[in-house]
Amino acid sequence: MSQAPASSPSSKKAQPLQRPKGTQDVLPGEMGKWHHIEATARRLFGQYGYSEIRTPVFEYTSLYERGVGEETDIVNKEMYTFEKGERLLTLRPEGTAGVVRGFVENGMSRMPKPVKLYYMGPMFRYERPQAGRQRQFHQIGVEIFGIEGPMADVETILTAMRFFEALGVPNLALEINNIGDPSCRERFREGFRKLMKPHLDSLCENCRRRYDTNPMRMLDCKVPTDKALYQQPEVQQFLAEDFTSDECKAHFQAVQDALTGLGIPFTRNPNLVRGLDYYNRTVFEITSNHLGAQNAVCGGGRYDILFEKLGAATMPGIGWALGVERLVSLIEDQSIQPLDYYIVSDQPAAAFGLQQELHGKGVSAEVDLTGKGFGKQLAAAGKRQARFAVILGESEIQENQVTVKNLENGEQESHSREVFLAQISGGR
Ligand code: HAM
Repeated sequence: MSQAPASSPSSKKAQPLQRPKGTQDVLPGEMGKWHHIEATARRLFGQYGYSEIRTPVFEYTSLYERGVGEETDIVNKEMYTFEKGERLLTLRPEGTAGVVRGFVENGMSRMPKPVKLYYMGPMFRYERPQAGRQRQFHQIGVEIFGIEGPMADVETILTAMRFFEALGVPNLALEINNIGDPSCRERFREGFRKLMKPHLDSLCENCRRRYDTNPMRMLDCKVPTDKALYQQPEVQQFLAEDFTSDECKAHFQAVQDALTGLGIPFTRNPNLVRGLDYYNRTVFEITSNHLGAQNAVCGGGRYDILFEKLGAATMPGIGWALGVERLVSLIEDQSIQPLDYYIVSDQPAAAFGLQQELHGKGVSAEVDLTGKGFGKQLAAAGKRQARFAVILGESEIQENQVTVKNLENGEQESHSREVFLAQISGGR
């Protein structure tokens, strides 16, 4: 085994056998849920015409500074940034900026529009860990490029709702808002600053800074007293007056009308501005009241300005991402891997031979590896929740037979091996 060089930090103090704070091991018992979520995503996104993209887990830091925005908590305090060869690199805190970079760099802008992409994988944010909030977490996300009109907004939201429905997630709430285009923000900035000026001294440091740099981001503050202030009737009335342009209003109205037509319930939350800087017009979040303080399971929106922010040719985009760990905590346990046949035998070579034949038929089969007596092997088959135990002892082998025990009703029958294999139709 190689040893750490004497000067390396890891040689100074032996690290305990502990995972870093804010990370999780996904253990085999939970994996059934993960596979179920991922398989459902692949199936459903495929039906909507999405293809998968895999981008690096780290990118140049400037991608996030320019894309996610320097006024955001993510860029300000949550990025895992490191230097290598005079370059600053960052573990991806989110997926959208990297997907846009990959789309542009690989010439995908020339593809017929819309281009629909999905991704899944780990993200990293140096946040204060708590229930539902990790430093390494996983996202599944979708992005649609090239469509300016509101039906792309509608379809992405519909895809998200259909996805949660397919997984049987109960009691979700969809909140949407229209934050307008950058050109509408001047009206917001002026009005909101006037409204907030008398309260400036009582606001948190972040909000005071954002008052100057980007007042809309004040609405994303998590400090309870500031949050309460932004819920006051005077603020709500200001937000209800809608500072956005007629085009933005019409776009958002079309989104709302289509959602209503599709029977997707939603509420408009005028305080919803999202934690990333690249959004314009439609933003949305899907929350669950089973998640505690970190109640957002999915968030997204339109980002027609992101490509330009990254120095690429203008291209409209919209998408969302969901937190897999949060979703896992909301769905029913799928952890028991189904097993069709458990082979009970004291003849390993023959048992493995039968296992290969069963796998060839498309069913699952495990061979007992304990080497215990038949009674204990049968008990193990029960614990493993197999549907059938296949008993293959010396006498069965000599007579070219198998004894099959149905573990659901206890019935047991012997068959010739050929008949047994011929009647297996494959799969569950
Ligand atoms: P986001 O709202 O920052 O959006 O993250 C999306 C989801 O990731 C959240 O709703 C939450 O479920 C999960 N999540 C975020 N941070 C954590 C954490 N520290 N621990 C556990 N789960 C977390 C985005 O990342 C955008 N890129 C979404 C998007 C795609 N917008 C357009 N396209």
